[in-house]
Amino acid sequence: MIIAIDGPAASGKGTIARRLAAHYRLPHLDTGLLYRAVGAKALAEHVDFDDEAALAVLAGGLDLGACDPETLKSGAVGEAASRVAAVPDVRAKLLRLQKDFAAQPGGAVLDGRDIGTVIAPAADVKLFITATPEARAARRHRELLQRGEEATLDAVLADILKRDQRDSARASAPLIRADDADILDNTRLDVEQSWQAALDLVERRRPHGGLHERGQ
Ligand code: CDP
Repeated sequence: MIIAIDGPAASGKGTIARRLAAHYRLPHLDTGLLYRAVGAKALAEHVDFDDEAALAVLAGGLDLGACDPETLKSGAVGEAASRVAAVPDVRAKLLRLQKDFAAQPGGAVLDGRDIGTVIAPAADVKLFITATPEARAARRHRELLQRGEEATLDAVLADILKRDQRDSARASAPLIRADDADILDNTRLDVEQSWQAALDLVERRRPHGGLHERGQ
């Protein structure tokens, strides 16, 4: 079973994807980490964000095993990620790896922006997880404070709005809901309620007696 989870920044898609993967015993790929890793490399190596050829070279040399989620979750890296993610050649370099991950025997859970539309258009289950920008900003603000980063709620909201705009407006694989994706708006739901709602949607859609149940 392939589960595709998309949605904007801080919508909670990562938490839902991780829990679904554990629940159905499927491998999970947080595709945002790939773009974050390229963004972090570009920052570290002072690559100009307008130099698309140099950014594509960084993406081509990406080592998935060397991506440490903890160091990649900072606000600055998120901003860099959304800039490199708008470059078509960067996306092209990361395409094969993601498609192969989705196509592995037994299935997988992937979360990102273009999973249901580009990476795994034939996924068995597609969820589009969203919430108002204000609700997402409040969550991201809490996360950043817990990480010890300094940020005001207003600045986080401005960052989220800017990223939503950039991710949705770009020509290459923009953030849009696949026609056949179920929407889960979790603005008024806590983490547990959001998880239950996601699980209900997957249970309703998943192929019964699917491959994952036979351990194939
Ligand atoms: O957790 P958050 O939504 O803030 O970030 P993320 O999911 O780690 O993604 C970081 C950035 O990578 C996003 O703003 C997108 O621009 C980009 N991205 C993308 O373009 N396509 C994906 N499949 C995943 C992430």
